Amino acid sequence: MLSIPPVLPAKKRIRQAFDQAAATYDEAADVQREVCDRLAGYFEQTGIHFQPKTILDAGCGTGYGVWWLKRRWPCAELILADFAPGMLVASRIHCPQTMLVCADIEALPFTDQRFDLYWSSLAWQWNDPMRCLVEAGRVLRPGGVLAVATLGTNNFPELQHAFAEIDDYSHVLAIPAPERLLTDCQGSGWVVNIWQRQAVRRHYSDLRTLLRRVKAVGAREVEQRRPRPFGRAAWQAVTARYEQLREPEGLPLTYDVVWLIAHGPVIDERHDRNLASLSCEIERG
Ligand SMILES: C[S@@+](CC[C@H](N)C(=O)[O-])C[C@H]1O[C@@H](n2cnc3c(N)ncnc32)[C@H](O)[C@@H]1O
Repeated sequence: MLSIPPVLPAKKRIRQAFDQAAATYDEAADVQREVCDRLAGYFEQTGIHFQPKTILDAGCGTGYGVWWLKRRWPCAELILADFAPGMLVASRIHCPQTMLVCADIEALPFTDQRFDLYWSSLAWQWNDPMRCLVEAGRVLRPGGVLAVATLGTNNFPELQHAFAEIDDYSHVLAIPAPERLLTDCQGSGWVVNIWQRQAVRRHYSDLRTLLRRVKAVGAREVEQRRPRPFGRAAWQAVTARYEQLREPEGLPLTYDVVWLIAHGPVIDERHDRNLASLSCEIERG
């Protein structure tokens, strides 16, 4: 029986990891930028023509999403929220005129129906997606729009393979099945405009570079941390298992990305007309 020493609450550790990664985030976050750009692209695809007066970027990181949001809706009031102070400091540099709030997206410090658009790219997977969804529904006005990118269960299958059978600790984030998010979303009255699930892949020259890249964006926390670092033999075993997956371009790393765009159940007539022609798009990539 393993004796696991006490650890900080998961959320506190996740927050610390992102706080510490703020300085290295932008240089390493090419996948995160691609995912955010694609969220913007899907939004355009919906054909939703509305002018949000107030927008929340929940889990804003260093503020990458702001580039598109500001360009798309220059007159909207934009509020950026993140629980990692370091990320907010970095986004202050990118977005000097924007209101920044240090807050937990599972318990936002905003009144009900404060926003017209809730935007969040790659933050929900660190939390309980259902709680995030309920909180998004609370802060969105009736008929408001939700645009979210998150991760699915098959995230980092290569790391799962490499660490399997090495020990009993978790080495990748355990993410709830995204099908459940879709069911919960539809079950609680959201009208889903876009539901896309696709693999986003990258290749790295070696395992050290790959892990450094993942940690540089703050993605280093899992449910059960090993009390001691791996020894040389364990690292050799992990590396050998990862090498089994090598492709001509290098060692692959696969993100299982889910994009969700939905609008709230109570909508005004104009909004209704804009959205009437949209259908729920379900694709498995
Ligand atoms: C992978 S980064 C994505 C940042 C940004 N949205 C982007 O696309 O570059 C995830 C961000 O979500 C934030 N985050 C995760 N869980 C959070 C929570 N419960 N409350 C507030 N921020 C959270 C992290 O601090 C981090 O800045």
